[in-house]
Amino acid sequence: MADLEGNIAAKQYFLQTPQVNTTFHVKGAGSLDFGMKHRLGRIFDAADGRTVMLAFDHGYFQGPTSGLERVDLSIVPLAPYADALMATRGIIRSVIPASATNALVVRATGGPSILKDLSDERIAMDMEDAARIDAAAVACQVFVGGEHETQSIHNLTQLVDAGLRLGIPVVGVTAVGTNLTRDARYLRLASRMIAELGAQVVKTYYTDEDFETITASCPVPIIMAGGKLLPVLEALTMAYSAVTQGAAGVDMGRNIFQRKDPVAMIQSVRGVVHGDLKPHEGLDLYRELSHGEQD
Ligand code: R5P
Repeated sequence: MADLEGNIAAKQYFLQTPQVNTTFHVKGAGSLDFGMKHRLGRIFDAADGRTVMLAFDHGYFQGPTSGLERVDLSIVPLAPYADALMATRGIIRSVIPASATNALVVRATGGPSILKDLSDERIAMDMEDAARIDAAAVACQVFVGGEHETQSIHNLTQLVDAGLRLGIPVVGVTAVGTNLTRDARYLRLASRMIAELGAQVVKTYYTDEDFETITASCPVPIIMAGGKLLPVLEALTMAYSAVTQGAAGVDMGRNIFQRKDPVAMIQSVRGVVHGDLKPHEGLDLYRELSHGEQD
C-alpha cells in the first residue's frame, strides 16, 4: 500500500488551460474508435498523413515470384525504410523479425492460385489471428465486375465487421485482372464501393487521366498500388503524381524489390512521398545511392 506520509498533495490542475480535443490526420477516420485510429496512425505518418508501404504478399497466389525467392534476404533489409509492410501471416511469422517496428498489413483473403480464377477468393485468416500478430490492418482483394464480385464483397464486409469488433482496419484492394479495366471510371466505382462498404483504407491503381477524381470521391485514404516493374523515373513519377493528386501514399512491391538496387529505390520512393522530392530529384537520389545504377 502506498505510504500516505510524504504523499505530496496534488495541485497541478492548470485551471487556466482547457484540455484540447485532438484531431486525427487520417482521412475519414475522425469518428473511429481509439484502437482503430492508433493502428491507422502506425501506417500513416502524422507529420504528412502519408505512408510508404512495401508490398510483398505476392506469394499468396504466385508462389516465389522474382525478387521474393528469399524474403529474408531481399525484403528484411528494406524494412527500416518502410512505414508499413504488406505481407501474409506465413511470411510475417516465419521471416519478419518481431523486433521490426513497421506497421503490419496482413493479407486476409486468398484461395485461388495464378492457375485459376483469382476472383474466387475467400477469407483466409481469422481476425483474432490478425490481433495476435499485432496487425495494423488486414488486406482484402475486391473484384468489382469480376466473376465472383459478390463473394469478394462479402469477404470485405465480413472482415470489416470482424475488424470493427477488435479495432483492426481493413484495406480494400481494387483487384484488376485480365478482364477488368484500370481507367478512372472503373476505379472510382470500385474504390467508392469499397469505402462505402466499410473499409477504412483503399488501395488502387494510378490512372494517367482523372486520378484526382478517384481520390476526391473516396471518403477514406487511397494508397496507390505499384504494379509491374517500370523504369525508375516512371515509377517515381507515378508515385509523385499520385500523392500530389490526393493519394495518402503508395504500396509498391515489384517496383522496389525487383530493382537492381532495392535499398536505393525504397529511399527514393520515400523521398518523393515524404520528402516532397520531384521525380527527377528522386531519380538523382536513386543514382547517387546506387552508385550510378540506371534502373
Ligand atoms: C495486389 O494487390 C497484391 O496485394 C499484390 O500481391 C501486391 O500488393 C502487388 O504489389 P506490386 O503490384 O506493387 O508488385
